[in-house]
Amino acid sequence: MITEPRQLPNTLKLPANARLAADLSSAADAIEAMVYAANAGCGLRCLGEGSNVVLLPEVQPLVCYVKDTSISLLSRDEDFVTIKVGAGKNWHELVEETLAQGWFGLENLALIPGSVGAAPIQNIGAYGVEVAQFIESVSVIDANQTARDIAASDCAFAYRDSVFKARLAASDQALIILSVTFRLPLRANVNLAYAELAEAFELDTAKAGKQKPHAPAPLQVAAAVMAIRRKKLPDPGEYANAGSFFKNPVIDASTAQRLQVRSVTPYRFAQGYKVSAAQLMDLAGWKGARSGDVGCWPKQPLVLVNYGQASAEHLLGFAQEIQRSIAERFEIQLELEPSVVS
Ligand code: EPU
Repeated sequence: MITEPRQLPNTLKLPANARLAADLSSAADAIEAMVYAANAGCGLRCLGEGSNVVLLPEVQPLVCYVKDTSISLLSRDEDFVTIKVGAGKNWHELVEETLAQGWFGLENLALIPGSVGAAPIQNIGAYGVEVAQFIESVSVIDANQTARDIAASDCAFAYRDSVFKARLAASDQALIILSVTFRLPLRANVNLAYAELAEAFELDTAKAGKQKPHAPAPLQVAAAVMAIRRKKLPDPGEYANAGSFFKNPVIDASTAQRLQVRSVTPYRFAQGYKVSAAQLMDLAGWKGARSGDVGCWPKQPLVLVNYGQASAEHLLGFAQEIQRSIAERFEIQLELEPSVVS
């Protein structure tokens, strides 16, 4: 393992440098990195593709990149395959490759930026599906430098949250995710619960003048998801962004009632309610708002964009202004969705 200073790529295109960074090609490398960070007392932080982080200009911990992109078939029966995927694999490539094999389930998660190792950390989710539904276990090197498989039931998966998220924020307790084991169904069972996705199919068939099909194939669902994402969300290649910048707040019944009176439409979620942060921002006039090189994406204000040379400080200041405005207007505290890494 070689450690060196490095510029850190990130989809927000914020200028950021690590004092030390390392590529990890094996479990032995990962253990070496852990030992190095413990001895140096600098902490350790794994990064994937930098698609869900706000990087400050000088990143202090040892930054590690897991290079493994392998897919191994562990088992297969009539109904399921179990595959182990290296943390360095690009997420969307995994979605495409599994669908091409007839291994289903990940179709609603097409086109999410980032790597496989990052997926369990914030339990990536889109269009009615969360990755946790398909994770069997996560293989890690723990802070005490031992290899461990953590069963999904011990990952505390929740909306954009997991046991890993808190651990990574406390860099002295950090762990390294080496691979993720998925259990994927071999029989298609598409999820069209998300209204916009269901509409996409009704619309297509209406245009073609045909009868509504019972269920589209998973590849068609992936294509529809990609079309919706491309229509609504900025392409990070063109407009630097990190996806949703705030979580959708989880609220109680009385808050839901209070908001309803103010033209907000909360919806049921688990035991309580959720409210769309995008809708709150929209009602508060943030859609398309700009401050220098930072702004809210005109079609989806929840996505903050770096239109040029924005700094992390400016971006986080703008986010704070939004939080203040939503708190004043709706008495709701918006929580940041990406992790801030300093
Ligand atoms: N809306 C508005 N105005 C807008 C945009 C949206 O009022 O300008 C309201 C509408 O009511 C709309 C609702 O917000 O129906 C939901 O919008 P959308 O479908 O875009 O979903 P979201 O709740 O804003 C979440 C995820 C996205 C994910 C989509 C689709 C979070 C924080 N974000 O966004 O994830 O792609 O659902 O499932 O949960 C990400 O995490 O980076 C991300 C992009």
